[in-house]
Amino acid sequence: MKTIIVYESKTGFTERYARWAAESLGCECISLKDASKDKLAGYDRVIFGGWIMANMISGLPKFREMGVFPAVVFAVGASPAFEEVLAQIREQNQLGETPFFYFEGGVDYGRLGFVQRMMLKMMKKMTEKKKDMTRQEAAIVQLLAGNFDHTDRGQLEEMLALVKRSDNGC
Ligand SMILES: Cc1cc2nc3c(=O)[nH]c(=O)nc-3n(C[C@H](O)[C@H](O)[C@H](O)COP(=O)(O)O)c2cc1C
Repeated sequence: MKTIIVYESKTGFTERYARWAAESLGCECISLKDASKDKLAGYDRVIFGGWIMANMISGLPKFREMGVFPAVVFAVGASPAFEEVLAQIREQNQLGETPFFYFEGGVDYGRLGFVQRMMLKMMKKMTEKKKDMTRQEAAIVQLLAGNFDHTDRGQLEEMLALVKRSDNGC
């Protein structure tokens, strides 16, 4: 099955997962800004990956506007992969029955724009003040103290297995 991975990445963590997945599957991988409905029409299967911003999968609305149905969606965020967080992301992004995978990325303050850097710092400050933090909030407060990189190719395994199972490769 001719497959392509389309990704939206601000600081490179999602792009890294997209490239690792493409390498493992032997398929093409492009940034959302280079994707178009015409280009994607040449593929049997499209996998979409975007980074998480306030629980929303960046780029997914723009991707959906192209009218292309993603066979698989993956998201990359700073949060640990707590099941309740994954359920929220699935619901808020209206993923329905679409196979969905979450991978831990990281934070690179140096590659963020001024506004997004400020947003993250504010998020940390506001969360710190909360009395009853969820386990995600407690983890985020610790993690946002500085740069970190939790990317790990092994996190892709389940998604790759699903894709390979459905057609024995690309
Ligand atoms: C403004 C902003 C909001 C964010 N909100 C979340 C969030 O709700 N949950 C989360 O897990 N990570 C959140 N993150 C962290 C990013 O998802 C994380 O840094 C991701 O690895 C970035 O991927 P990229 O390098 O592909 O851009 C946020 C980051 C920014 C800048």
